[in-house]
Amino acid sequence: MKFFLDTANLEELRKGAAWGVVDGVTTNPSLIAKEGVPMREQVAAICSIVNGPISAEVVATDFEGMVKEGREVAKIHPNIVVKCPLTRAGIQACSTLSKDGIPVNATLCFSPGQALLAAKAGAWCVSPFVGRLDDLGLEGMALIRDICRIYANYGFKTQVLAASLRSPLHVVQAAEAGAHIGTMPFKVLDQLFNHPLTDKGLDQFLKDYARAFQEAPTGRE
Ligand code: G3P
Repeated sequence: MKFFLDTANLEELRKGAAWGVVDGVTTNPSLIAKEGVPMREQVAAICSIVNGPISAEVVATDFEGMVKEGREVAKIHPNIVVKCPLTRAGIQACSTLSKDGIPVNATLCFSPGQALLAAKAGAWCVSPFVGRLDDLGLEGMALIRDICRIYANYGFKTQVLAASLRSPLHVVQAAEAGAHIGTMPFKVLDQLFNHPLTDKGLDQFLKDYARAFQEAPTGRE
């Protein structure tokens, strides 16, 4: 499973990229607004940090507006993936942009039927939001499993990008379900490292080594 960072924060992206485990980035209008820099400027900066697919979302809501904006956004960098919401106009824009060779991330997907529409429209990927379904008391991860099974049944090329992942467990479950990509906040990527036995084991190794080679009695006075 590819790891994408779900953030527009440049500091977080630099840290994640330095670890060598970040394959791409997803942004949305809320994440861009948090950084206080206009979308195109911020997305260009992101493209200079991470060398992989970078999702940038349109804010127009009508078909013509989304296609126009999508084409402009795609010019920012060859790695741009245009994000369109899973509305009627969004799917129509997805179909048009995809036919033009512009990769589209069909976002705000909450049902297998919507994911089928994204695949039919030629989306590069679909973004089912796991955490937001969990928030409603539903099992968000079941949606990832359903979409992966449906896509596999028909050999759809559209990738499943598990989004709204809120914990390391979500990331592992998305990988188990067969998601092609998992996008996560920096905090979740950082949490994936943590295990008390790793810390304890390393501590013991270093103590043993120091005892044997640095504190060994020399036999001299
Ligand atoms: O990629 C989608 C993500 O930004 C939504 O996450 O935690 O706001 O549901 P969240």
